[in-house]
Amino acid sequence: MVFSIEKIVRPKILTLEPYRCARDDFQEGILLDANENTYGPTIQGLSEEEEKLDLNRYPDPHQILLKKQICAYRNSEAQKPESVIKLPTDEKGAPIKLSPVNLCLGVGSDESIDSIIRACVKPGKEKVLLCPPTYGMYGICCTVNDAEIVEVPLNLENFQIQPDKIIEQIKADSSIKLIYITSPGNPTATLIKQDLILDVLSQIEKLSWDGFLIVDEAYVDFAPVGSSICSLVNKHPNLVVMQTFSKAFGLAGIRLGICYSTPSLSVLLNAMKYPYNVNNITSSMALRATKKESLMNMKKTAAVIIDQRAIVLEKILKIRGVGRNRGGLDSNFILIEILNKDGVPDNKIAHEVYSKLATDRQVVVRFRGNELGCKGCLRITIGTPEENKKLLEQFEDVLSHALED
Ligand SMILES: Cc1ncc(COP(=O)(O)O)c(C=O)c1O
Repeated sequence: MVFSIEKIVRPKILTLEPYRCARDDFQEGILLDANENTYGPTIQGLSEEEEKLDLNRYPDPHQILLKKQICAYRNSEAQKPESVIKLPTDEKGAPIKLSPVNLCLGVGSDESIDSIIRACVKPGKEKVLLCPPTYGMYGICCTVNDAEIVEVPLNLENFQIQPDKIIEQIKADSSIKLIYITSPGNPTATLIKQDLILDVLSQIEKLSWDGFLIVDEAYVDFAPVGSSICSLVNKHPNLVVMQTFSKAFGLAGIRLGICYSTPSLSVLLNAMKYPYNVNNITSSMALRATKKESLMNMKKTAAVIIDQRAIVLEKILKIRGVGRNRGGLDSNFILIEILNKDGVPDNKIAHEVYSKLATDRQVVVRFRGNELGCKGCLRITIGTPEENKKLLEQFEDVLSHALED
């Protein structure tokens, strides 16, 4: 295997010097270097807690403490005996832990999705491989960055990736620079088998492929313990892993995503990002969310959601007009089929149910029937027990009316 960052990243990005400020070198004293308002925020009636956020100051561009806490959590997960993925080891057998040099933080994973394309894909010339059905932002970011999309669908029987077909494509087209995989998938709720991801990695390494395999793990904390492959970025330099605080951490509003990669890519992603992309409110919340007690609470909540998912699924599958649970059981949502009177998945009825639920019953789910392999499907996020109860009542009623029409 020959890994060469120079052959993957756009030449101009390789030479990029990060924006520097005086605060990189001096953080203490009378700070008159950044044209901030040293009188403080002009909001009246800030609470004591809010005062502590130093909102008149630019945030720390590096967020080392937060990165350390994130790494500590992921390293400890990977070291649990029941962890599916173990930390990689060096020649002497010592574990190689994630460290802040592996991380770039973004305004949600959406920022990282975009910035890797910007870093690696020459607009109008190079391509990105997607595996539909998948998360819509990859396609949007490709369009924005003028990157052509090549598709290798998931195996529609089980929503797993098809390694040989992916490899066939990258062999056939040397302009493909990135592969995006979602694990667990959206809208599929299916964790991609570790063996399949490792198969792709080993094949691209054998080929010395000049590109990155990006695994988006937005929902990984709903999958079995230690399912994340983020620590493997230190073993497989072509691997990039993304995570977010928007799902299991319950912090979609703070907009924080994590991108794990080999340090030679990470340093460039950090150089590219807007220096103050992680704001003071976000970092303060994320620091709290990655403390021991909050992490325990995150796991407890994820377990409750998983229990609720089983309850919702059991009940919903008994409702007349509901077909299969089309997706997997690795996320905080389910993907279910709506059938017509002939027992066939039906987009018209599914869309009607979606729309009536939202407009007449104030229950909003997502119509996914136009996604590949998802005919007649609705994607339903698992809510609180009260929300789920209301969903089930309203859903049954709306669907029974739709079937009568
Ligand atoms: C697979 C996947 N990746 C990324 C995201 C976006 O994450 P963030 O909120 O961190 O931008 C989502 C949001 O739904 C998602 O489903």
